[in-house]
Amino acid sequence: KIKACLFDLDGVLVDTAVYHYQAWKRLANTMGFDFTEEQNEQLKGVSRVESLNKILAWGGVEKTETEKQELATLKNSWYVDMITKMTPAEVLPGTVDFLTAIHKAGYKLALGSASKNSGIILERTNLAHFFDEIVDGNMVTQSKPDPEVFLKGAELLGFKPEECVVFEDAVAGVEAAKRGGMKAIGIGEKSVLANADVVVSGLDKLTVKDLESL
Ligand code: BG6
Ligand code: MG
Repeated sequence: KIKACLFDLDGVLVDTAVYHYQAWKRLANTMGFDFTEEQNEQLKGVSRVESLNKILAWGGVEKTETEKQELATLKNSWYVDMITKMTPAEVLPGTVDFLTAIHKAGYKLALGSASKNSGIILERTNLAHFFDEIVDGNMVTQSKPDPEVFLKGAELLGFKPEECVVFEDAVAGVEAAKRGGMKAIGIGEKSVLANADVVVSGLDKLTVKDLESL
């Protein structure tokens, strides 16, 4: 029986996935190449450094560790410029209602995000108070699809993996949930998130009942 809900942040609760995409695209463009929206799916859920490594490989570009640090910092500065201007209006449809409903129904909630910027986003969008525990990119060493971020969340909440469900928009994130022995609700398209137990287009399509029948 499901007792705890672990939420990815970017692309599940807030539409920051587009900001990540814009910033990475701009970075690739400054190096003289581009990548597709389909390739971008592979960046979702993946840590900052690993995203950069994938992009450099797509462009066939080699950089030293120092240069990589600079590029990652540059991308992040563009990204932070965008997220510091966010407002609660950018919370995705149905999010506040769904989080309120599951909290009322007695489920425990944790954030399980790869981002090191989760603090700013949760604060700008007024979502922080919903979470009993927050696990983000500052607290893990392994990037999704490694299950570390979700296992840590389950542990902090005091539940076994099989008592947890993960909400994810990323292929890597769904895989992390499954590797961790948890249920996964995909937020996005069925064709992309084929390994999820259930796929919906957004949290506005879910009710407490859907958790009971998992
Ligand atoms: C994930 C995003 O939530 O966080 C990835 O889906 C991103 O696209 C990762 O690379 C790390 O985020 P940040 O904010 O620490 O660069
Ligand atoms: Mg995401």
